[in-house]
This record gives sequence, C-alpha cells and structure tokens, in this order.
Amino acid sequence: MTKIKTVYFCTECGNESPKWVGKCPACNQYNTMVEEIKETKKTSSHTSIATNNNSPQKISELKIDENIRIKTTYSEFNRVLGGGIVSGSLVLIGGDPGIGKSTLLLQMCGQIALNHKVLYVSGEESVQQIKSRAERLNIISDKLYIYSENNLLTVINQVDHLNPGLIVIDSIQTIYLDYIESAPGSVSQVREATATLMKLAKSKNIPTFIVGHVTKDGAIAGPKMLEHMVDTVLYFEGENYNTYRILRAVKNRFGSTNEIGIFDMKEDGLIEVLNPSGIFLEDRSLGYAGTSVVASLEGTRPILVEIQALLAPTNYNNPKRTASGIDNNKLSLLLAVLEKRSGYQLQNQDAYIKVTGGVKIVEPATDLAIIMSIVSSYKNKALNPYDVFIGEVGLTGEVRRVSRIEERCKEAYKMGFKRAFIPNKDIEKYLLPTDFIVVGVRNIDEVIEYAIGDNLSL
Ligand code: TYD
Ligand code: MG
Repeated sequence: MTKIKTVYFCTECGNESPKWVGKCPACNQYNTMVEEIKETKKTSSHTSIATNNNSPQKISELKIDENIRIKTTYSEFNRVLGGGIVSGSLVLIGGDPGIGKSTLLLQMCGQIALNHKVLYVSGEESVQQIKSRAERLNIISDKLYIYSENNLLTVINQVDHLNPGLIVIDSIQTIYLDYIESAPGSVSQVREATATLMKLAKSKNIPTFIVGHVTKDGAIAGPKMLEHMVDTVLYFEGENYNTYRILRAVKNRFGSTNEIGIFDMKEDGLIEVLNPSGIFLEDRSLGYAGTSVVASLEGTRPILVEIQALLAPTNYNNPKRTASGIDNNKLSLLLAVLEKRSGYQLQNQDAYIKVTGGVKIVEPATDLAIIMSIVSSYKNKALNPYDVFIGEVGLTGEVRRVSRIEERCKEAYKMGFKRAFIPNKDIEKYLLPTDFIVVGVRNIDEVIEYAIGDNLSL
C-alpha cells in the first residue's frame, strides 16, 4: 500500500516544509503555508523533452538569429514584448477575471495562425464557447487548433503530434500533471506544470503563453516564484467602469519593463489605441481648479495624462487621503512636503487624487504635476490649460532631474501644449519648436509662484 505523504508549501516562495509553521523560514512571510499531498510517483514521459544535444559554446562563435521574433499586427502587443514574440519564450499573462485575457490571446492567436500553426489549450472553456467567441472576433483560420484539456501530459502528446509554432495555455491554474496528487491550482501543480511547460518551450523552441489568475491583492495566484521561472510577465489591467485595457510588462528577459500597450474593449474584441495621449486628455475640462497634465514616460513612449486633485475640509479627526492611479503613500508624502516646505495647512483637508483614464502611474516624474493639482485645488485657482509639469519632487521640495525631457516635451507640443515646467538641471539645448516655452525650476515654491493663477490666455 502506498502511504500518502503531505507536506506544506509556501504560497509566496514555494518553500517546502514537513510541518506547518506560522512564518515561512525562507521568505519570512506569515500565514502562507498550505498543506499539499506530496507527489508519489514520477513518470518519465516528460523528462524526454529535455534531452537535446547541448554543450557549452564560445560566445564569439554564437550567431544571433535575426528572425527570432514573430511579429503580430498589433504593434502595441509587439512593443510590450520588446519587439515581437521571441521563439522558445515562456510568457505569463495575469489579470483579473473578465478583464479580457482570453480575448486578447485568442485575437493574437488568430493573427499568428495566418502563417503558423497555433495550439490554444483551454482548461476553462469548452471548444464551443471558444468557437462562438472566435466568431464574434472574426477569427477564421485553418491553422488555429482549439483544444479543451486539463491534463498537461495529454497536451504535450498533442504538441508532439501537431508541432505548433505557438502554444497558449488558458489557464495554468486549471492544468494538472497526473503524477502529482494535489489538486489543479495548488502550489506544487502550478509550479511543476510551469516547469514542464518551460522545458517544452525551450527544447522545441515553441513560444508559449500561459494565463495566470490573480489573487484579491493583485498578484498572480500560486507561488511568487512562478514569476521568476518564466521569461516574461505581463499584466492585463483596467477599471470596470471604462473599456480601456492596459497591457504592462513587469518582467521581460527580452525587452524593457514597464512598457505599456493600450487597448479598447469593443463589442467585437480588443482594438489598439495608437494615440493614448489623445484619449486620456479627451474629456479634460479646461479652466477648472485642481487639474494638471504630465508627460509621463511609460516604457519607451511618452504619454500625456491628466492628474486631478480635490481638497476639501475634513469632517474627521484623520483626514482622508485617497489616490487612484498613483500610490497612496506617494500622495501622503507629497502632502507632507507641501506642509513642511511650503507652509500649506493641509492636515484639516481631505485629499483625493485621480489619474484619469484608469492608468496607473509609477514614475516619479509625475510628482510635480500631483503637487500642482493639489495646490491648484487648495487655492481654488485654475492652472494654465496649456502647461505641462514634469519633474520628481524630493523631500526638501527640490525638483529633481528626470529622463528623456526632449521626448516628453515633443509629445506635449504635438498635443497642443505651449509650455513645460521642467527640472532646472534638465535645461539643455533641445531641438524643440520655437513656439514651445520651457521653464526650468529648482523647487516647488518657484513653480507654484510662477504657474498658479498665471495669465490663462498665454
Ligand atoms: P475574457 O477574455 O473572457 O476575460 P478573461 O479571460 O480575462 O477572464 O473577457 C470577457 C469580457 O470581455 C466579458 O466581460 C465580455 C467582454 N468582451 C467584449 O466586451 N467584447 C468581446 O468581443 C469579447 C470577446 C468579450
Ligand atoms: Mg479567460
């Protein structure tokens, strides 16, 4: 009789422990250990895929394959991946349920299937469901194979048989290896299934996309090390109240991170948004207090976004600080800088900040625009609608250098802005249009003095 052995796995780092502990000894997180059945037998069927003639090679003799990337016709998608899909890469796409991961991947498969064989494996939906979605998305291709299956070894057999140029696994939490006893979605299943897919992708050189569900706090469910195992991690994000969706690279072995691609979810699928600045500024109301615009650099592309602030006297002992689109801590910090360095009395004010269009901004270059929106709302004075504000703000209120000013200013000019406030240290000779004014500032007091209530007709 085989004895079933259970062990405990950390859901954060995948650490294994023979007994339950409150704190994971490897990553020091609390309450992350879950009980799982330890695998009882290992079949060798999956190990065969890892055997290829591999030996160390001289770097000087290695050749770069120029055709290594498959390009889709979605330039947003290509850019986020660093210029197309790299052969043999393993890409993880995470996102909230219903955000459009399956739609995005099915559309991408439809594209690729014009030239390559594609295997789309779904452990969540029946082939009929996928077919009806494909009809809505207008995907017709003889090279796109849909396969509704949860057993990974069966999938691998089909891959051997079909030899596709691209594989999609939707989702990793519904796929299982039958030699591991714990349920699909458990730490050991997710980890082993990902490792197996990695070997498959590398040994056969087939690019593979896997969908991963996210937990309530937004991380991909399963061990954190899932993200370490794969080549690229993408997040597909968006707000429920609007149809814009943002594809963000948070890890990429083949390109830059924090690159974003913007899509719009329509009746018949996702379409690319090629002029995001236009969309994010579309509903801007001119001449109101509490709003300013920043040229933010998301990945390699500057995007103009509007930042709105609302300050109102508080009814509570602890004033509210609520931010959407930026980090709450950043809001508290910038309010503290304004209080301490510029003498504004903000401790009796509730403060709300919103980045319009549902974008999330992480770049420090937005600090100055956030400060200006706050001050504008507090003083109830509108800023000049043709101004943009670019700069990081330090704890002493100084405006610090940011990267690639020239590109940011050019984008602002293209969108009809006439003046930019930028860090004084970044003032250099740029090739900017002569009718675009650039003002270098050293600290927040200088900007406030210069920009607030300035002549609106500029
Ligand atoms: P889906 O791709 O199933 O999300 P996920 O795989 O991330 O769970 O997307 C489902 C949502 O997208 C659903 O609310 C309906 C909407 N949708 C459209 O608006 N238009 C479309 O053409 C499609 C296919 C879906
Ligand atoms: Mg789905």
